[in-house]
Amino acid sequence: MFHLQCIKCNATYPPEERIYTCPRCGGLLEVVLELDKIHVTKEEMDPRWMGVWKYREFMPVSEKARIITLTEGGTPLHRVDNLREEFGVKELYVKNEGANPSGSFKDRGMTVGVTKALELGARAVACASTGNTSASLASFAAVARLSCIVLLPTGKTAMGKLAQAILHGARVIAIEGNFDEALELVRRVCDEMNIYLLNSINPWRLEGQKSLGFEIVDQLEWEVPDRIIVPVGNCGNSSAIWKGLKEFYEYGFIDRLPRITGIQAEGAAPVVHAYREGLDEVVPVENPETVATAIRIGAPVSAPKTLRAVRESGGLMEAVSDEEILHAQKMLARREGIGVEPASASTIAGLKKLLESGEIDSDERIVCVATGHALKDPEIIIKSSEAPITCPADMERLKKVVAQVL
Ligand code: F0G
Repeated sequence: MFHLQCIKCNATYPPEERIYTCPRCGGLLEVVLELDKIHVTKEEMDPRWMGVWKYREFMPVSEKARIITLTEGGTPLHRVDNLREEFGVKELYVKNEGANPSGSFKDRGMTVGVTKALELGARAVACASTGNTSASLASFAAVARLSCIVLLPTGKTAMGKLAQAILHGARVIAIEGNFDEALELVRRVCDEMNIYLLNSINPWRLEGQKSLGFEIVDQLEWEVPDRIIVPVGNCGNSSAIWKGLKEFYEYGFIDRLPRITGIQAEGAAPVVHAYREGLDEVVPVENPETVATAIRIGAPVSAPKTLRAVRESGGLMEAVSDEEILHAQKMLARREGIGVEPASASTIAGLKKLLESGEIDSDERIVCVATGHALKDPEIIIKSSEAPITCPADMERLKKVVAQVL
């Protein structure tokens, strides 16, 4: 019903093989579903709970698998008319992935990834992370009763994410280096010490994340948006959404495909550079830096998949500054009531920039994916906002302050 295939040399491997890249050429692996063996209709899926497992037939786990779930997915698709008016665009939505159990889209991947870890007989799981992957993996590993090790870049992980990883019982190792170095190390440690790797290089994890694409078209009553805008870090999510939508297209659930548009932070934009220069692989950025710590990545491992998704779909890649990101974070919060972390706000900043430059047409129907919750990184909000006004506990003084701010 499904197998692994290398996206570079097309070699195929059975699903039981515990591999993350192609043993023959080192290329990235992808799960290939035999769509002609899937038999399900929209009407059959309709009454099911919204979420990753609503699309169970498209999730490559065996019938007998013990599914580890925290009821992930099923997140709101907000119609954001205040922003739409301000930007002057035809139709605008925000897919709020902060509403997932651990507060980010990573939960979609982990429900499948940790289920697969159990199927493959793993006893321990690990990841390197800028924060959200570790928070998510820690919570799913807890339910599955697996030991969990997470490697985080010292001093560059937002507080909320670090707190979650600790709370759910992961062994947190702070690596004195950046995310790229931590990922390189965890890949080697997993190989040498028989630990199951759950970074997005793991093709099974991306199968869960493709449900984000499924859900968007499902929530739009099977109308396909013109464009989906996604923040790009390690390139898992953007490519997973594209893969899912292509499956729905080939299966016949949708009759066209959206353009995938990826946004990076200026200080960590290797995929944007590769896109502009027409390359298939990235030239790593040394010492990536951005306020959006979630996407502070210089050597994204799945970059060829995202470059393929953006090009095949006729999309775009754009970079935005930290200032634009923080401004967009406040716009979304103050016009629409949606609190997101900086990486997620990059999509709003990117949309604004691309509309202004005319690269995106105002006649489009657009979905921005907000990948993580504002509370993941409360420190940046406090740091970049006006301080609260202090006032003595005195009615007369309070009235003066209130009169001033009204
Ligand atoms: N947005 C948020 C909030 C993220 O946490 C990440 C990735 C991305 C966007 C980018 O997604 O890597 O699939 O391109 N965070 C990873 C982590 C790297 O470790 O939590 P991507």
